Amino acid sequence: MNPNAALPSAAAHDRGAPAATQARAAPVPAPVLRFDKVSKTYAHGASRTLLRRGLMAWLTGTRSDVFYALRNVSFELSPATSLAVVGANGAGKSTLLRCATGISTPDAGRVQVRGTIAALMELGAGFHPDLTGAENVMLNASLLGLTRQQTYAQFDRIVEFSGLAKFIDEPLRTYSSGMVLRLAFSVAVRVDPDILVIDEVLAVGDTEFQEKCIAEIIGLKQSGKTLIFVAHQLALLRQLCEQALWLEHGELKMFGPSAEVIDAYEAAPPPASL
Ligand SMILES: Nc1ncnc2c1ncn2[C@@H]1O[C@H](COP(=O)(O)OP(=O)(O)OP(=O)(O)O)[C@@H](O)[C@H]1O
Ligand SMILES: [Mg+2]
Repeated sequence: MNPNAALPSAAAHDRGAPAATQARAAPVPAPVLRFDKVSKTYAHGASRTLLRRGLMAWLTGTRSDVFYALRNVSFELSPATSLAVVGANGAGKSTLLRCATGISTPDAGRVQVRGTIAALMELGAGFHPDLTGAENVMLNASLLGLTRQQTYAQFDRIVEFSGLAKFIDEPLRTYSSGMVLRLAFSVAVRVDPDILVIDEVLAVGDTEFQEKCIAEIIGLKQSGKTLIFVAHQLALLRQLCEQALWLEHGELKMFGPSAEVIDAYEAAPPPASL
């Protein structure tokens, strides 16, 4: 059976543990993102593991101290839906986004994506500190899938949106965090992704730029794009997202309409420990 059968698009792709079971019949409308029993583990204290212990674990195929950053997470996201991902520090939000964008591969389960994704995950990711702002626009746009010609065509709009014309020929290492965000956001939205993933980075922008970003995000939503948004600003998530997913210790605690999920998240006591 074709593993992408449930996501009928030339751009559909699929990542996951090789032995996972296959998808069910296609729902209507077909989801743009599907997590099917996704788990991601890390080895606790891996950097301190003795060579002998590491070798034994490798020889016997056992991993002691395995820690689940995500455990058995399943959900589907319909096209043109915005998803807020909430949870305490260390709950697995960035891990979920990394699995969705293909930066990380799940240890179990399957992630299916239909369309292109642009991700704003960590400030400076996809940028080089010694290159100028202009050179970084070219670099970042090509990493996100734009051709050189497409980037030239968009270049002036990217710089104008960023408000960084005066600094565009300065090296990126001289930029403040807010200026890096401006450049990264301006490139990501011009790439015209089907799915835009934003992990917290908007918080470093000033009020004026955050408002511009939010207006741009609303425009993207209206044009049928999908948004996945991690932020600790719950009021903003309520405003931007119809759906929400609450993670606790790597497990999906609740998934549904954002008002209901965020109400429940706010009402719940914080987890006893991270
Ligand atoms: N590369 C890694 N190696 C080991 N552990 C990791 C790694 N990446 C994440 N983790 C662990 O996985 C858990 C989930 O991390 P994650 O970054 O997804 O949390 P988060 O919900 O995004 O938290 P925050 O709100 O602080 O950004 C954490 O306990 C973290 O220590
Ligand atoms: Mg995070």
